[in-house]
Amino acid sequence: ILNKLLAQIFIPKFFSTMSLESSKRVAAYKAVDEWVKPNTAIGIGSGSTVIYAVERLKQRVVNENIKVFCVPTSFQARQLIISNGLILSDLEAHPELDCAIDGADEADANLTLIKGGGGCLLQEKVVASCAQSLIIVADYTKDSTKLGQQYRKGIPIEVVPMAYVPVKRKIEGLFGGSVNLRMSVAKAGPCVTDNGNFLLDWQFPTDADSDWAAVNRDILMIPGVVESGLFVNMVRKAYFGLADGNVTERC
Ligand code: 5RP
Repeated sequence: ILNKLLAQIFIPKFFSTMSLESSKRVAAYKAVDEWVKPNTAIGIGSGSTVIYAVERLKQRVVNENIKVFCVPTSFQARQLIISNGLILSDLEAHPELDCAIDGADEADANLTLIKGGGGCLLQEKVVASCAQSLIIVADYTKDSTKLGQQYRKGIPIEVVPMAYVPVKRKIEGLFGGSVNLRMSVAKAGPCVTDNGNFLLDWQFPTDADSDWAAVNRDILMIPGVVESGLFVNMVRKAYFGLADGNVTERC
């Protein structure tokens, strides 16, 4: 009985994890095949889906004997580039990028994104702003019509550590909802970003103003805010991998 019970719990979980992973892979492979051109500089995003993009990039670099200069958006991306033997670059050497390939926590009908679930939003936004095309790769769970439908942890906001309480109070006062300081996994202290800042997660009200460009502007006006995880009007194309191996593409 115990074996049967364990199988009923773990086998479906195993297969759903596998299909999520394969949906990330198909999206990432397709994006790399369609957007990466030889002898260009590109941005490398952060997160678990980007791992597959880098995997594909390495295959192409080796098989086609091409050169691609890779600008990371995080410590994780930097490690990925180095460990895959790709050419590590930066915005000093390559301030203009052909494309940036990155993941997302959620994308709405207008391809407004929530990013920063992994804590890397500032460098991701800087790198994306230097790219001619921001290309998003994600699994099907990130594809939504309205922000907040899929990603429930709120909009990440990077703040200067000494300002986290006033910024929290101002956001709650201006827009409602609740703002929480993101804690480290062990809850021993706050999460610290690659840039030495703290992260707030804003659980916005479900009836929040969906003029996200205006909301983003207002958030960025608050002293102490470094950047928000709202990416508005930045995406050129998004690829969402499906469990059956197909990819939904949205521009
Ligand atoms: C990190 C990010 C990631 O792009 C986002 O969290 C998506 O990650 P994943 O591909 O693991 O779902 O914004 O700050």
